[in-house]
Amino acid sequence: MRARAGELRVPWAALVGAAVAIAVATTAAFGQDASGLAARGKRLFTEQGCYGCHMIGKMGTPIATDLSQVGSKYPEAYLRQWLREPQQQKPQAHMPKIQMAEAEAQALAAYLASLK
Ligand code: HEC
Repeated sequence: MRARAGELRVPWAALVGAAVAIAVATTAAFGQDASGLAARGKRLFTEQGCYGCHMIGKMGTPIATDLSQVGSKYPEAYLRQWLREPQQQKPQAHMPKIQMAEAEAQALAAYLASLK
């Protein structure tokens, strides 16, 4: 019986360990949320080819608006909507609608909104 009790203790320890690990991972994910999103948006700015028309800092192409301080011009929600449907936001918009997932538009908007 003694040996069995000893065996039973092992899975409990493992379970508690797993629960702690999950709690720590969840907290870390939530804590990072805003800056993690913006970091992803920064990568998307390159991946989606935005730099082919726009400048941010010293990076990009000065064909369209310089976006270095676009975050002080528009709120994040506007930027996200702009990326989804430029023509809806501004009927005469010359910016092409770029195919991207909602999550990507969200990340890009978070990044752009942080540029002030
Ligand atoms: C083919 C060129 C082109 C590409 C590629 C492009 N844009 Fe644009 N963008 C424009 C033009 C031109 C404007 C000027 C507004 C208009 O269309 O009237 C603009 C405007 C904007 C604005 C509003 C700026 C302001 O100050 O009013 C934002 C924000 C923006 N673009 C973000 C992006 C992002 C993010 C990407 C990548 C997903 C991107 N653009 C890709 C051409 C482009």
